Amino acid sequence: ADLVSFIEGLPKAELHLHIEGTLEPELLFALAQRNRVKLPYATVEELRAAYAFTDLQSFLDLYYAGAAVLQTEQDFYEMTAAYIAHCRADNVRHVEIFFDPQTHTERGIDIAVVFAGIARALREAQNSPDEHGFSSFMIMSFLRHLSEEDAFATLEAALPLREQYKDLWIGIGLDSAERGNPPEKFAKVFARCRELGFYLVAHAGEEGPPAYVISALDVLQVQRIDHGVRSEEDPDLMTRLSKERIPLTVCPLSNLKLCVVDDLAKHNLARLLHAGLAVTINSDDPAYFGGYMNDNYLAVAQSLRLSRTELVKLTRNSFEASFLPEKEKQRLL
Ligand code: ADE
Ligand code: ZN
Repeated sequence: ADLVSFIEGLPKAELHLHIEGTLEPELLFALAQRNRVKLPYATVEELRAAYAFTDLQSFLDLYYAGAAVLQTEQDFYEMTAAYIAHCRADNVRHVEIFFDPQTHTERGIDIAVVFAGIARALREAQNSPDEHGFSSFMIMSFLRHLSEEDAFATLEAALPLREQYKDLWIGIGLDSAERGNPPEKFAKVFARCRELGFYLVAHAGEEGPPAYVISALDVLQVQRIDHGVRSEEDPDLMTRLSKERIPLTVCPLSNLKLCVVDDLAKHNLARLLHAGLAVTINSDDPAYFGGYMNDNYLAVAQSLRLSRTELVKLTRNSFEASFLPEKEKQRLL
């Protein structure tokens, strides 16, 4: 098979995906019209042309502005259903998606609306007959540019929904502007989430230093690191990540678009993999970064000349690194 068909044929799990980052310009415009939200762009093309980023913050500014078109349960449902259609096309069998309630509650949207719309699409996908089946989890993420007090308030607002969504909501994450917002800032709220029995993850070592990866592990006690590519700057950390098989959810096209690397051929994914780390490939915010899962796999396969054995290894890592029960993992591996 050619490389494209080979990648299409591999079953995969996606572990680093912000649902708000799947909002394509076409749907964004349609929702703006339906909800009478004014956009500073005249056309879909004009909006897409604005997706030229210089760093994480330049992206976040547009991403949060774009999310303002999401108002109703139906809006969150449609956005999530559109993402699931991409999963089916890309042979993604399991997803663990991030959502950022604070982006919406700040605008007066009820947190219950956010949960309901996303969960309806995920449950529908889970229950629809399909030759392989499709499973999903939700990871509620705190915005790190806001205060820890704000994160606690979000947790309090969400906890009454836990029973209703216990089949889906299994984890807590940390995202948004990394520089200047170290993991330690959220030590107390993560300790609380750990007591509550949630799986924990955090973005670290995307733009921030290896020290943030270390404090995400030691202070927040996360089970996975989102991005983590800057870990390579610290040899002791690399040894630890390899020894403990701590997964990194790497997002190649995201790293390229946000100028974490200036050329995919220079991306350290292959080196991290060869160093024995549990590296996975993910799409992060596909509507903004120019590609879903298979686009990410293909881009690195070509740029880094990955072998088919390495590509298989990356997909196996994605199931190994997931929060699926051991039995389910074995079935999917
Ligand atoms: N929110 C959405 N995508 C993100 C990223 N790549 N890093 C930090 N926060 C994000
Ligand atoms: Zn991310």
